[in-house]
Amino acid sequence: MSSFQPAANPSIAPAQAERVPGRAHVLVIGNEKGGSGKSTTALHIAVSLMRDGASVATLDLDARQATLGRYIENRVAYARRKGLDLPVPTHAAVTASTLPDRVEAEADEQARFEAALEPPLLSADFVLIDTPGSDTHLSRLAHMWADTLLTPLNDSFIDLDLLARVDPDTLKVVRPSVYAEAVWKQRQVRAVQGGRPVDWVVMRNRLSSLAARNKRDMGTVLEALAKRIGFRTTTGLSERVIYRELFLNGLTLLDLTRGGSGPSLTLSHVAARQEVRDLVASLNLPPPVPAAPPAAPATQEAIAEQQAAG
Ligand SMILES: Nc1ncnc2c1ncn2[C@@H]1O[C@H](COP(=O)(O)OP(=O)(O)OP(=O)(O)O)[C@@H](O)[C@H]1O
Ligand SMILES: [Mg+2]
Repeated sequence: MSSFQPAANPSIAPAQAERVPGRAHVLVIGNEKGGSGKSTTALHIAVSLMRDGASVATLDLDARQATLGRYIENRVAYARRKGLDLPVPTHAAVTASTLPDRVEAEADEQARFEAALEPPLLSADFVLIDTPGSDTHLSRLAHMWADTLLTPLNDSFIDLDLLARVDPDTLKVVRPSVYAEAVWKQRQVRAVQGGRPVDWVVMRNRLSSLAARNKRDMGTVLEALAKRIGFRTTTGLSERVIYRELFLNGLTLLDLTRGGSGPSLTLSHVAARQEVRDLVASLNLPPPVPAAPPAAPATQEAIAEQQAAG
């Protein structure tokens, strides 16, 4: 029997998170369920933060699929083709170990993960880590580094099944399931290691524009589950074809301009862009570290003192 006894998370923090001095804030985008919108959300958040003046690094732990890396490559190529100055995050990927022995492979992955994380951790304002839609050792490592964990969830009971078993008749949460259990364990390890509590945020993705029963029921179950396993829910993203179209040019909704090159900005895109901005605001991330002011010009007095001193 599982020893999993989740308690309400005391760390749920609607207040703005504080930055550890000299260290980037780590935002992990995680959900073991494939195709929930992790990579799409990751690039949208990265671009939103960069447009607000933050320095952002991205780390892709799904190097086999490499969706985020491909998204960023497409972005660089598009900017070059069109002569545009698009903000691009510093990107790195960590591949799974090929060592046959599991213990050695995990040590190898830990070393490579930490080597990839350390430079941006010391130099960027934010490190965004995109994880694969499956349970891997690299993904578990990343979850332990999360200051904020964002879980995009397709608005479907199939996707919710990785967070909790739900009674089909009463819609009551029967018990938390695999992903919730994994996050709980990673929180425990982090607490033992003296790390700060993680702010776990679940966002609904691909929300229907119709007030369908599924949408309402998902909302009810998620709110009950949030209290039980310790996350907070936030504003979600609607189902929109544009998310699929933007990938080939590496663009996000935040890059679209009226009359500019590329996909033109419609009213629906303006609404979608607001959803992304609302999502980023709701994460309550710490503000970027202000750039150091340029060295003050020497005053006449200081120059005279220096001259007098010879
Ligand atoms: N809000 C949305 N509306 C419409 N399509 C979306 C939305 N969000 C994501 N998608 C589409 O859903 C698919 C999966 O998205 P994405 O690759 O970002 O998910 P993922 O969680 O990173 O997947 P994986 O687990 O395989 O890494 C893509 O085709 C993407 O364009
Ligand atoms: Mg992905």
